[in-house]
Amino acid sequence: MPFSIYSVTDMPEKKRRILVTSALPYANGSIHLGHLVEYIQTDIWVRFQKSRGHHCVYVCADDAHGTPIMLRAEQEGITPEALIERVEAEHQADFSEFLVGFDNYYSTHSPENQHYANLIYTRLRDAGHIATRTITQAFDPVKEMFLPDRFIKGECPRCGTPDQYGDSCESCGATYAPTDLKNPRSAISGAVPVEKESLHYFFRLGDFEPFLRSWVAEHIQPQMQNKLGEWFETGLQDWDISRDAPYWGFEIPDAPGKFFYVWLDAPIGYMASFQNYCDRTGESFDDYWGRESGAELYHFIGKDIAYFHTLFWPAELHGAGFRTPSAVFCHGFLTVNGQKMSKSRGTFIMARTYLRHLRPEYLRYYFATKLGSGIEDLDLNLEDFRQRVNSDLVGKVVNIASRCAGFIHKLFEGRLAATLPDPHTYGEFVAAGESIAEAYEAREFSRAMREVMQLADRANQYIDEQKPWVMAKDPLRAPEVQAVCTQGLNLFRVLATWLAPVLPQMCEDARAFLNVETLDWHAVAGGPLVDHRIEPFKPLMQRVEPAQLEAVVEESREHLRATAGQAEAEPAAPPSPLEENPIAAEIGIDEFAKIDLRVARIEKAEHVEGADKLLKLTLDLGGETRTVFAGIKSAYQPEQLTGRLTVMVANLAPRKMRFGVSEGMVLAAGPGGRELFVLAPDSGAQPGMRVK
Ligand code: MSP
Ligand code: ZN
Repeated sequence: MPFSIYSVTDMPEKKRRILVTSALPYANGSIHLGHLVEYIQTDIWVRFQKSRGHHCVYVCADDAHGTPIMLRAEQEGITPEALIERVEAEHQADFSEFLVGFDNYYSTHSPENQHYANLIYTRLRDAGHIATRTITQAFDPVKEMFLPDRFIKGECPRCGTPDQYGDSCESCGATYAPTDLKNPRSAISGAVPVEKESLHYFFRLGDFEPFLRSWVAEHIQPQMQNKLGEWFETGLQDWDISRDAPYWGFEIPDAPGKFFYVWLDAPIGYMASFQNYCDRTGESFDDYWGRESGAELYHFIGKDIAYFHTLFWPAELHGAGFRTPSAVFCHGFLTVNGQKMSKSRGTFIMARTYLRHLRPEYLRYYFATKLGSGIEDLDLNLEDFRQRVNSDLVGKVVNIASRCAGFIHKLFEGRLAATLPDPHTYGEFVAAGESIAEAYEAREFSRAMREVMQLADRANQYIDEQKPWVMAKDPLRAPEVQAVCTQGLNLFRVLATWLAPVLPQMCEDARAFLNVETLDWHAVAGGPLVDHRIEPFKPLMQRVEPAQLEAVVEESREHLRATAGQAEAEPAAPPSPLEENPIAAEIGIDEFAKIDLRVARIEKAEHVEGADKLLKLTLDLGGETRTVFAGIKSAYQPEQLTGRLTVMVANLAPRKMRFGVSEGMVLAAGPGGRELFVLAPDSGAQPGMRVK
């Protein structure tokens, strides 16, 4: 590139080598808009670094181990391998449609991860940082497994609310040990847990206190320092890194029957994914992870998992002879319309649901306008979202191009003028890139977007003042029209350059329209586009319509009815009594497949006061409890039903009945009255299994 008058300061810096990660999403759930705060934030930062010419590698993976994944697979009647493979494919599709451009996406259930987990563990052990101790824990005698706190349910020891988890009460907020619960039950089998001893392996975090104190002071955001201060005050406890079989994870090399706790191998998944990337590309693992590495390493995470990333992880790396992160960037949580995402309000929005109605870049831009470097929560206000996108992207940015492109094509066969009428303003736009780059670098995306939109206002103002549409009426003023539109399109090119990390697809379309090779950061400093042919203009972005947002919210509400069934139910038609079921019309296999039939254990059957046909059933679906009012009182005494397995329709929309909400339906056969037979699966079936 020849010497340019437009920017002498904004020249490429020394090329950095940067490795970036986002937290690894669990392989038992779908990506929702909350997750996307993180992946979009990280992706914008990575794209910015790449645009600046740095060598930046972005890796991630599915977090594929742990008890919930094991049980979920069991419930679905498939292997954990099959489950994590399916979910990983879904995750990857969601991410790629949101334009999250990983350089490698992998899984913690991989040979590379097992290798590094073993290596780190062995090095820590050999250096004396692993201790063993016998602990007593709740054990499910039926399922023959130790129960994590979340899998024990019972009555709150403080307020007596039934069905509370083993760590805290949702009703009164009390926190306690699972052993404090009254009438505790395993959420998996319904059995009464017993206490059992077992040998556990611990990582001695306390060994690293001096190291961590100084590391944290230098590598963690100021707002997180307070939180970390509290943790140091409380004291760094040994961390239990082992779980007993049956467990879905990696077996500990020198401890048969013991497995690494999922959080031990999860962050190591960052290394595994990078190793997998190196094997594909020939890059060197040690250049990035070796103690002497000159590369930078950044982890983007949500504040809920800070303990793992700011204490355990750097201590493990340090203790095992690897480099530690250059920084851990924490972000806050997403709220929608000012409140926690809620299934009943339709604001617990899955990535997939959003994608069915809205363009991903709207959300990328909106998040960018909200994101800073801090850990404050951020709000997606749907009305504000619509207005922001429409007014900024459609009304300001795209408008510049659409106002100028038509004249250049109609009057000048797509050719830009030979000189810029106002090179000074072009120079100012280019120079503004420095401050915008600083904002991106510091993850102050909202500031970057504000500065870009101020420039967009200036560009529009310029066109408003020049009024090319008035000039165009006078053939003698054609050169002026060409000049003004050339100016406008050059300003647009600069804006597209600054926006490309946030809006990769729109800016790629803009690049093709401008007929330039790249929108990389420094290209605009090479000079404006003059005497240059552009391509025909196609609309770059449409407005967001209220109906699209309504559809997303509506579908998110439905999503709940189809899967979870614990929402407030709408008042609905009375249940159709069994005996009145007409012969049904023929249906296709697809319609049948919509019915989620599950094996359920009748935990409790009770009379309902004032009801002459109904029994109230409490059903255990293998980790989930449902209440169903069934019209079978004429045929059964409650005690005949308790403990039995049956089959239920698990995705029936909850129905509000006179006596309470019914969350499904159990299957029974017969004409009615005393001749009514509750269906039961063969022996061997387990609560939660899908009936196919
Ligand atoms: N599997 C762990 C991370 C292991 S990293 C070695 C995990 N997974 S997660 O699927 O629950 O979350 C993935 C990331 O998304 C986390 O950083 C989490 O903080 C973030 N978010 C999940 N819900 C979120 C919001 N509602 N808002 C913002 N971020 C959220 O944690
Ligand atoms: Zn309570």
